[in-house]
Amino acid sequence: MMNNEPAYLEIFLTKLAFRFYGKPVYKTFADCIPIKGGEQVLDFGCGMGTVAYYVAKRLLHGHLTCLDISGRWLNACRNTLKDFNNTTYMHAAFPMLPENRYDVVYCHFVLHDLSQINLETVMPALVKSIKPGGVFIFREPLKEAEKLRIVKSLAEKSGLHLKDSRITDIPLMGNALESIYEKETECFGIKMEVKL
Ligand SMILES: C[S@@+](CC[C@H](N)C(=O)[O-])C[C@H]1O[C@@H](n2cnc3c(N)ncnc32)[C@H](O)[C@@H]1O
Repeated sequence: MMNNEPAYLEIFLTKLAFRFYGKPVYKTFADCIPIKGGEQVLDFGCGMGTVAYYVAKRLLHGHLTCLDISGRWLNACRNTLKDFNNTTYMHAAFPMLPENRYDVVYCHFVLHDLSQINLETVMPALVKSIKPGGVFIFREPLKEAEKLRIVKSLAEKSGLHLKDSRITDIPLMGNALESIYEKETECFGIKMEVKL
């Protein structure tokens, strides 16, 4: 059986990174996520809640679901977000997600870790969980070119339209690709793209 649990040292080092680089690394991504405050949001692969911490702060009337395959990371996430009451936690190996539920789904340094076979299951499930007209946004290391190509192709096949993409240089992590997609809407069975 695969062990998806991190070493305690990894959790400790991530806590240090969050403490000293929280704003330049994780907040910069959270600030790019288009939320007004009332949305239903999913953090897929939340880890210890590094990005979730900044997103939960902005969701004054909304709700954040933090999902991770690892119980240890999820416990660390609960601890990071202990002062928020707008969050729930999902311990899941593969997303068994409700359809058309979230306004926004985001991934921060998660997708590049998944095998192609896993991505082929995960990506369509994530897209199905997004409401029509909702948003999918990720930040992943640029050096993982092949994984990024697979993610892009699966995103488009699953009914997402690329809205914006850029490369950023992140402290400690190097160059990363940030892409934002929008899910097409369906009107009388005809697929339509929403213009913001
Ligand atoms: C590099 S960490 C990033 C954590 C967090 N997003 C951050 O940026 O600090 C990758 C996370 O994805 C989780 N993960 C990996 N595969 C997953 C899967 N199939 N389903 C859910 N979570 C997964 C890992 O347990 C880990 O917490």
